Amino acid sequence: MKKILASILASAMMLSLAACGGSAPAESSSAAPAAPAAPAASSEAPAGGDAAPAGGGKVGVSMPTQSLQRWNQDGSNMKAELEAAGYEVDLQYAGDNDIPTQVSQLENMISNGCEALVVAAIDGSSLTEVLKGAKDAGIPVISYDRLIMNSDAISYYATFDNYKVGTFQGNFIKDALDLDNAEGPFNIELVTGSPDDNNVNFFFGGAMDVLKPYMDSGKLVVLSGQTEKAQCATPNWSAEESQKRMENLITSNGYGPEGTKLDAVLCSNDSTSYGVQNALTAAGYTAENMPVITGQDCDKPNVKNIVAGLQDMSVFKDTRTLASQVVKMVDAVMQGTEPEINDTETYDNGTGIIPSYLCDPVICTVDNYKELLIDSGYYTEADVA
Ligand code: BGC
Repeated sequence: MKKILASILASAMMLSLAACGGSAPAESSSAAPAAPAAPAASSEAPAGGDAAPAGGGKVGVSMPTQSLQRWNQDGSNMKAELEAAGYEVDLQYAGDNDIPTQVSQLENMISNGCEALVVAAIDGSSLTEVLKGAKDAGIPVISYDRLIMNSDAISYYATFDNYKVGTFQGNFIKDALDLDNAEGPFNIELVTGSPDDNNVNFFFGGAMDVLKPYMDSGKLVVLSGQTEKAQCATPNWSAEESQKRMENLITSNGYGPEGTKLDAVLCSNDSTSYGVQNALTAAGYTAENMPVITGQDCDKPNVKNIVAGLQDMSVFKDTRTLASQVVKMVDAVMQGTEPEINDTETYDNGTGIIPSYLCDPVICTVDNYKELLIDSGYYTEADVA
């Protein structure tokens, strides 16, 4: 029976993914949800099966903010796929990264009959108390994209390979500047994300594992001296904050097209990268003389800037893939079976290792963005024109 249910669910999800692939694009506004198309019609279910997919029960999905494009996509993908799998969904966004709002939304989900929770935390360490309530009520919690720390209520974690994302960014800079062969030295500044996001340890750590040897040898120079994670952090991953910091770095180090040469800026994601690019273009940089700049997420404004030559790379993390994986996880925990896991070593949340599924990130540049983002139906050409 489980096999039949699983195969019905799998085909429903494949159809819903296919529908998503061919669906109308997300709005071009960075805050607009990329709503996948409605789930596949039940008549597509395998013959002999119940038309309704596996599932049943209410699932709470808690997302951090609607102010960044990706969380809108994550939320709407999760909702559509869970509904296609037969679940009722309580999807909540915690205002604009408001921790008390996320806590009270979770309290409501726990008291209002959710049977599983999927949570992308704002601050990975602020949910310990509220999730005790989930554990006491026997509600499994899946940590979504960001690991929830110091809570033994977490059953599973699904994310992208965050360390790989960091090494992609570091290696991109290494290759673009040809650090092994070119004489240098090259000037670089470092910008990472929110200090309360556990992912930052992996993004920044992965990039620094690649770049630090070149800093130690003097081939890469950080004129500001700001090389510690805390010095390079950006609260809430805010583009305004990273812009302000880059403006200060420009002023205090004399960077500019006519001033001190700035060869690269490591940026852990697209929102911070966007702020950095704003500061640099305001200081007179153009596509012709921009430093090498990294990013992550393939947000629409950043893909536009990749096409315009202002940003060199982003990392594509297909939120459809993550959502599908998490829906499979939810379904397994709801059916009392073991979900698919591919990592049991990397993610310790302070109470022990959390069994994880890591999806694969992919480097996106001007050379492959069409294939990755447009041919796959993630965006339309118009979205990023
Ligand atoms: C996610 C990134 C995202 C960042 C800001 C991180 O936890 O993994 O994809 O850019 O948060 O929202």
